[in-house]
Amino acid sequence: MTIRSNFLDRVRRLEKDHEPYVPGMTRESAARIAGVPAAEIVKLSSNENPLGASPAAKAAIAAMIDAIHEYPNSTADALRAAIGVHLDVGADQVVVGAGSSSLMHAMMAAFTEPGGEVVALDPSFSVYREIARAHARVPVAVPLRTTDFTLDLETFAAALSDKTQLVFLTRPNNPTSTLIPLGDFVRAAHLAGEKGALVVSDEAYIEFSDLDQPSAVAFLRGPAPELPHVMVSRTFSKAFGLANLRLGYAVGTRETARALALANAKWPTGDLAQKAGIAALADTVHLARTRAAVAEGRNYLVAEFGALGLAVVPNPQGNYVMVDVRKTGLDAAGFAQLVFDLGRVLVRGDFSPHHVRVSVGTAYENARLLGAVRRLMPG
Ligand SMILES: Cc1ncc(COP(=O)(O)O)c(C=O)c1O
Repeated sequence: MTIRSNFLDRVRRLEKDHEPYVPGMTRESAARIAGVPAAEIVKLSSNENPLGASPAAKAAIAAMIDAIHEYPNSTADALRAAIGVHLDVGADQVVVGAGSSSLMHAMMAAFTEPGGEVVALDPSFSVYREIARAHARVPVAVPLRTTDFTLDLETFAAALSDKTQLVFLTRPNNPTSTLIPLGDFVRAAHLAGEKGALVVSDEAYIEFSDLDQPSAVAFLRGPAPELPHVMVSRTFSKAFGLANLRLGYAVGTRETARALALANAKWPTGDLAQKAGIAALADTVHLARTRAAVAEGRNYLVAEFGALGLAVVPNPQGNYVMVDVRKTGLDAAGFAQLVFDLGRVLVRGDFSPHHVRVSVGTAYENARLLGAVRRLMPG
């Protein structure tokens, strides 16, 4: 049998189906638009670490500089061992990638087939949808409750079908900052498991949660993991402050991790990232400072927005909050624009018509944001 095929057909399909995630503006672009030096921009639009990277990670990068002409360890053995110790799982359960989002391509390749359905929350991180389409998989959305953006398990069950192959449950969810409780996650995982799907708990922001033991890694420990069809994805981009290095990882059973590694890029990360990751994991002081700064800043933003009559989506667990701006008389895009014009502060107003997403910054940055918001309030 011959396969009649033209690559241009595939190019056109990709272009037609493409639905790209639009990343937040860089500091440089914002500074150019505002006509001010980059340092004057307050960037609360990409959920980065307000304290920056760990000094130990920076030192590890500097120490590597004379070796960047040599290939790195392609399987990141030392980093995987450190992550294994950090999470109390085997190093052979861990797969490393150039950011957790690049591992999501490998997940599509390893765990789904063309035409398979990829389920994710709505609203959520739209990169899942973009990657699913790029691989000719079918994205399926599970709308969150419109009142408090929590997950209704009946709505979730209704989104599953015999074609469901991969499910992303974002915990905490982006942009809502809500966290599906572990009990509901287990019930959702069982429902998806009945369809034969693999379930990813995307825990990019889990280090910022103030709940006790919120991670699904608990189900992957020991010789007979409780939920072997669950994977956890994590990143060094957020609490560890290494977004520009591109470093993330996934944790599965030995079997799913092996399959993911087979589908992964051959040299997925360099030694700059691997060594910085090991140093960042060991720097528990910087992580503790980061968590404390985010908890304090998050409480401040909730209280101050609340005092202005702008409701924050309840119980935020990430390093960002989602705010209903209707009381300002503006839509989300208009609010974000005015905050930029008045305060040179970047927030995201392009996720939803009436809600903006605001990253938690330093005390100074949070106060600059609130200063601009007070100036745009009516009356
Ligand atoms: C929910 C979620 N998952 C994953 C990522 C991607 O992170 P990484 O930098 O590891 O690719 C992000 C980035 O914003 C995110 O919001």
